[in-house]
Amino acid sequence: MTQLAQVKKAAAFLNKKTKNFKPEIALITGSGLAGSIPPLEKEIKIPYSSIPGFLQSTVPGHSGNLIFGVYKGRKLVVMQGRFHYYEGHPMKDLAISIRTLKLLGVEKLLVSAAVGSMDLKLKPGSLCVLKDHINFMCNNPLIGNHDPAFGPMFFDLSEAYDKAMRKTALAAAKKVGVTAGEGVYLAATGPNFETPAEIQMFKKWGATVVGMSVVPEVLVARQCGISVLGLAWVSNMGCGIEKKPLSHAQTISETKKIEGKFKKLLEILFVKL
Ligand code: HPA
Repeated sequence: MTQLAQVKKAAAFLNKKTKNFKPEIALITGSGLAGSIPPLEKEIKIPYSSIPGFLQSTVPGHSGNLIFGVYKGRKLVVMQGRFHYYEGHPMKDLAISIRTLKLLGVEKLLVSAAVGSMDLKLKPGSLCVLKDHINFMCNNPLIGNHDPAFGPMFFDLSEAYDKAMRKTALAAAKKVGVTAGEGVYLAATGPNFETPAEIQMFKKWGATVVGMSVVPEVLVARQCGISVLGLAWVSNMGCGIEKKPLSHAQTISETKKIEGKFKKLLEILFVKL
């Protein structure tokens, strides 16, 4: 089956389950952030495991549900839990969920993720609103995966992260009392955290934060014309910046601390974006 046929099948299943609910905004929640979703009206929760052709998430801290609902009149879908390259999914398969969102009618995508920071002004608990990225995964979900139904093979990324949405996010962060700045996301494959030497190199390249997701999702979304806002929550300083070892438990516990603020931020963004 082609990926287009696979994605059409997933979308048809979801359209039937939701009676053709057409979400305008999608949110992907990252590590430990699944609890930040504001309460939605007319909520419909659909486990990834029930959606034909969908991947399953395998990482602790990442639950696997699509949640449809309405927030103050805005129609939303939340991917509660995401898929990572390091889980062993073929890179191409990371396009499935985003292309399904496109077929459902999504126009705007908010990607949230926990990250390590290389900027001393963005300490744990701060928000880095992404203005650009560096793809150091050395792979791409669009390779050998082109279908004109999802846009041109060659497409522009001079503004991968929507400028107006970034401005709205920075203003919302200020309102909620979160330290925030714009920055560049460097995507590493994981699953290991980086070495101190890698962090120093990424910093020299102009990266602000580092993580193990986001970029494959953004590439797929931009190709098919979905606008993107990247919200990277700092859970730790990049390896070697502070003299303590990194752990996934720390990522989860640090992101849990910002859950309340993230929820408030989303309440603003769901209305203003
Ligand atoms: N590196 C990569 N991914 C991450 C980090 C990190 O330091 N923290 C949270 N996700």
